[in-house]
Amino acid sequence: MMSRTLNKHGFVTDLVEKTPTPFYYYDMDILHETLAEVNRQIGGHPFKVHYAVKANGNPHILKTIASHGLGADLVSGGEVKAAIEAGFDPREMTFSGVGKTDWEIRLGIENGIGCFNVESVPELDIINQLAGEMGKKANIAFRVNPDIDAHTHKYITTGTADNKFGITLEALEQVINHALTLQHVCLRGLHFHIGSQITTMQPFVMLCETINKLLDYYSGRGINFEMINVGGGLGINYNDPDMHPIPDFESYFNTFKQHLQLRPNQLLHFELGRSIVGGCGSLISRVVFVKETRNKKFIILDAGMTDLIRPALYEAHHEIQNLTAADTGTQETYDVVGPVCESSDVFAHDRSLPTTHRGDLIAIRSAGAYGESMSSRYNMRPLPSSVFATRE
Ligand code: LLP
Repeated sequence: MMSRTLNKHGFVTDLVEKTPTPFYYYDMDILHETLAEVNRQIGGHPFKVHYAVKANGNPHILKTIASHGLGADLVSGGEVKAAIEAGFDPREMTFSGVGKTDWEIRLGIENGIGCFNVESVPELDIINQLAGEMGKKANIAFRVNPDIDAHTHKYITTGTADNKFGITLEALEQVINHALTLQHVCLRGLHFHIGSQITTMQPFVMLCETINKLLDYYSGRGINFEMINVGGGLGINYNDPDMHPIPDFESYFNTFKQHLQLRPNQLLHFELGRSIVGGCGSLISRVVFVKETRNKKFIILDAGMTDLIRPALYEAHHEIQNLTAADTGTQETYDVVGPVCESSDVFAHDRSLPTTHRGDLIAIRSAGAYGESMSSRYNMRPLPSSVFATRE
C-alpha cells in the first residue's frame, strides 16, 4: 500500500486538512503498537488487562482494543452495552462503580459478565437479591480501599480513606464473611484502584505490599482468592508525546512481577485506560480569531472545553502544536482558549507558539483518554467527530 503524506508533526496531511474541525484524530498505528506492547509485557504471566472503557468509548477504538484480546472494565449500563457491541467477551468484563442501579446490575447478570467489583454491603445485598430473582449466581470481587496516596490530582485520587470508593481494610473481613453466607454471589477476588495518572512506581509497590499482607492474612483463615485486580492508573507523558508515544509498560508490569506474591493459580487483573488510549489521540481545531488585549494575545479555537474538558477541570497540561504555521522561527506567547461562555474554557495559559493566524490548524496532543469520552453538548455545541489515521 502507498504511504500517506505526513506533515512535519506526523499527522496525515489530507486527513487533517479536509476534515471539518473540531475533531479527534486517532493515530491507529500508535494504538496498535501500544496494544502489542501490552501483550508482549504480559505474555507468559497469569495477567489479564481489562481496558477501562471510560477513557474512550469510541466504537472503532473499542473494536480495535477487543481485537487485541483485552477484556473490558465498565462503570455503567451504557458501557456494558458498548463493550458487548464492540465484541468484548462478557466473561472478560468487570463492572465497577459505587452506584450501580438495578437495571445495570440486571444487565450485567443477564450477560454473564465476569465480575462485579462491589463497593459496599448494600450493593452486595442487592446483587445477591437480583441474581436470586433471575435464578443466577453473580461473580463478585470486593473493591478494597487500601488507603494509599497515589500523589496525583485530588480529583483523580481514589484509594485514600476519605474517598467514596471501596470497602475499608477494617471492614473487609466482616464483609467477606457476610458474602460467604450468601447464595447467589460467588466471591472470586479482591479489587484495588488507587488513582490515575500515576507516574512513579512507588505507589504501585506500596499497593503490592498491602495486597501481600492481605493475602497472607486471609490464607491463614482458609480464604483464598482466585483473582486479584489492581485497577489502572499508569500515567502517560503529557509533556513530550512524540518522544514517549507508548508508556513504560515494562516497568509497570515488572513492578507487579517483582513485588506481588501471587499464589499458585491466582490471576492478576489490570484495568488500564489512559495508558492504552491517551497517546493515540489529538484534538484538531482551527483558529477562529487571534485577539489582542492590553496584556494578552488569545488564540480562539473552534474547539472548547466541551470537546476536551481536562485543562478546565484539572488544569491539565496538553502539548499544543500549530500544524500550519510558516517556519519563520518567530514565537509568541498566547493564551489558547475555546469559544464557550466560561472563563475556565482555556486550553493553555502563556504558551509559546509560532506566530499564529486565523485559519491555522492546531493540534492538542495526548487527548485520546478522557477527551472524547468526557465531551458534552454545553452551549448546544455538537459533539466532536473522529477520524482514524494509519500511515500506510
Ligand atoms: N479502574 C477504576 C476503578 C477506575 O476508577 C479508573 C479510572 C480506571 C480503572 C482507569 O484508570 P486509568 O488507567 O485510566 O488511570 N477523567 C480523569 C481520570 C479519571 C479516572 C477515573 N477512574 C482525567 O481526565 O484525568
